[in-house]
Amino acid sequence: MNVLSDIVEKLRDQLFKSVVSNNLVYNTCWEDPRLDREMLQLDDQSKVVMLTSAGCNALDYLIDNPKHIFCIDKNPVQNALLQLKQALIKKGNPSLLWSFFGCGEIEGAEMIYNQDLRKYLSPRAQTYWDDHIHYFSPYSSESSFYFRGTSGKFALLMRNSIRKKGLYGDIKHLLNAQTLEEQAYYFNEIEPLLWNGFQRWLLSRNAVLSMIGVPSTQRQIIEQEYSEGILHYIRKSLRKVFTEIPIQDNYFWRVYLTGSYTSDCCPNYLKEEYFDTLQSRVNRIEIHTSTLSEFLKRNPGTYSHFVLLDHQDWMIGQNPELLAREWEYILRNAVAGTRILFRSVAPEADFIPSFARKKLNFACSLTENLHFQDRVGTYESTHLAIVQ
Ligand SMILES: C[S@@+](CC[C@H](N)C(=O)[O-])C[C@H]1O[C@@H](n2cnc3c(N)ncnc32)[C@H](O)[C@@H]1O
Repeated sequence: MNVLSDIVEKLRDQLFKSVVSNNLVYNTCWEDPRLDREMLQLDDQSKVVMLTSAGCNALDYLIDNPKHIFCIDKNPVQNALLQLKQALIKKGNPSLLWSFFGCGEIEGAEMIYNQDLRKYLSPRAQTYWDDHIHYFSPYSSESSFYFRGTSGKFALLMRNSIRKKGLYGDIKHLLNAQTLEEQAYYFNEIEPLLWNGFQRWLLSRNAVLSMIGVPSTQRQIIEQEYSEGILHYIRKSLRKVFTEIPIQDNYFWRVYLTGSYTSDCCPNYLKEEYFDTLQSRVNRIEIHTSTLSEFLKRNPGTYSHFVLLDHQDWMIGQNPELLAREWEYILRNAVAGTRILFRSVAPEADFIPSFARKKLNFACSLTENLHFQDRVGTYESTHLAIVQ
């Protein structure tokens, strides 16, 4: 029995690794930079090392004038996505940036790409977008870039199923609600119909969780910590987001449910008021395709900030030695005062190796307070560790 469950576990891992190694998984960032800003306190001396994901948050951080941002991702496709965003900013046309990444579609995407954007990309990113720029074409059934990639396909599946149930009108009302009472009213209408057998079955599949970028390690953490399991965790998270956090500027869930942003509900990097600032600073972002540890090994230095997202959850349990090695590299390249920000589906950061923990102070009262305002709402904890 143990042998069998080991095999199943290995197969799950392989599936996840093959999904996240060379596919577009995250078409937008799923961490709230409004809270990051409060915790990071960036300034013109900041040298930030962060994971790329979809690149939205690196662009957002530029507004705070950091000296340099190193974006690291082991998945080259995620880096190609950030390069495309950088190319649109370098091109200098805010409405073009809006069409691509605000609306998620634009007529003539391929022509614009070939004429105006391709030249800004690395050969590797060119190879990816040569084959995938049609993701922005308005003529496809997916109709938006935000319904592309593995997590986008899942969003589309959910949207279609919501439509079939006749709930899409209520979703629009929910997203346009002006008060928490209104939000709760529409959410209470929608929620009982949302969780039918199909949705429950879907979300209990590891293959589906891999598509949305949730590794089996994260699922295991949730199942160990919460006796009611992953479905309960998701339901609880959604209820909190939609009934306790104002929806008006929750661009994360808006784009997930509708496939596009609106001008007053979108990431900062898409707002016209920041465009000139971003254009003048976009070259401060340097992109590397590698693991975080490999990057730090090859680029030793003194970094003031590390933004690890929730990626340590990918190693907890299965790869404690990788996690330990990563912390060794982080601490070797940090100084007193370096800020390290991360999130997790675990309620505590007790997965951090003890040698690292001894060198860190945790800003618990700040993070607990901010965590409650998180517009993404799917993490159980937020942590800011400051090197002693
Ligand atoms: C951890 S995932 C999580 C997504 C995140 N919550 C968000 O904002 O969307 C973000 C990215 O980290 C990358 N990643 C995971 N582990 C990594 C590692 N050890 N080194 C470099 N990149 C890593 C993945 O390829 C993925 O694109």
